[in-house]
Amino acid sequence: MRKKIVVGNWKMNKTVTESITLAAEVIAAIGKEFSGCDVGIAPAFPALYEVGKLTLPSRVSLVAQNCHFEPDGAFTGEVSASMVREAGCSAVIIGHSERRQYFGETNAIVNSKVKQALSEGLQVIMCVGETLEQREGGVTGDVVTAQVREGLLGIGNISNMVIAYEPVWAIGTGKTATSEQAEEVHLMIRNTVSDLLGEEAAEKLRIQYGGSVKPSNAKELFSMPNIDGGLIGGASLNVADFVAIVNAAD
Ligand code: PGA
Repeated sequence: MRKKIVVGNWKMNKTVTESITLAAEVIAAIGKEFSGCDVGIAPAFPALYEVGKLTLPSRVSLVAQNCHFEPDGAFTGEVSASMVREAGCSAVIIGHSERRQYFGETNAIVNSKVKQALSEGLQVIMCVGETLEQREGGVTGDVVTAQVREGLLGIGNISNMVIAYEPVWAIGTGKTATSEQAEEVHLMIRNTVSDLLGEEAAEKLRIQYGGSVKPSNAKELFSMPNIDGGLIGGASLNVADFVAIVNAAD
């Protein structure tokens, strides 16, 4: 049985002060109510260190939203994997569709970031997902398979990885994939990983769903056999909603 994992991706929301407040509320609520699934929050970079002081003694883990593919150097404005690790993160999100769409991240860049983060001992949440045009053009399978294959190129051990399937058309739009649509792609991702790294690694891999997950749809999504939790954007900024989603996974 795979343990479910729910992570709140706060994106470019919340100042340091606001992040501390939200994190404290989430930790207080989660501490009381949840037991069985892994929970993480991903504030923006400036808030990581201070929020890390709150998450460290709690059951909530601290997650970065991105990191660079080089260990250090002249990359103005960038943040390295070792920096986020030392700030208190145990995990990092790599290849989110907003990074791919607005910051030109290709599968090759995603792959080098994944390798760098893993080498720093960070758990990696690697995001994949098709656009609306790709879905309507019938190429969802090709696109997502290529993202998985190229993202995992040269990586032999995925025991510290999670894959998040996030159809771009469902992110922040209020449109969720139906649980059947999501399950179909999750199964395909698992089969792709099985081809690449064997059945055992594929069976252990946790595959999160992301894209307009809310308290009202979380339970049904998380009840599908290949959906192992969620990557939550908008709803993670509301404590009650986030806790309800965690409880649905728990
Ligand atoms: P959303 O975002 O829940 O606001 O759709 C999900 C994500 O981008 O991780």
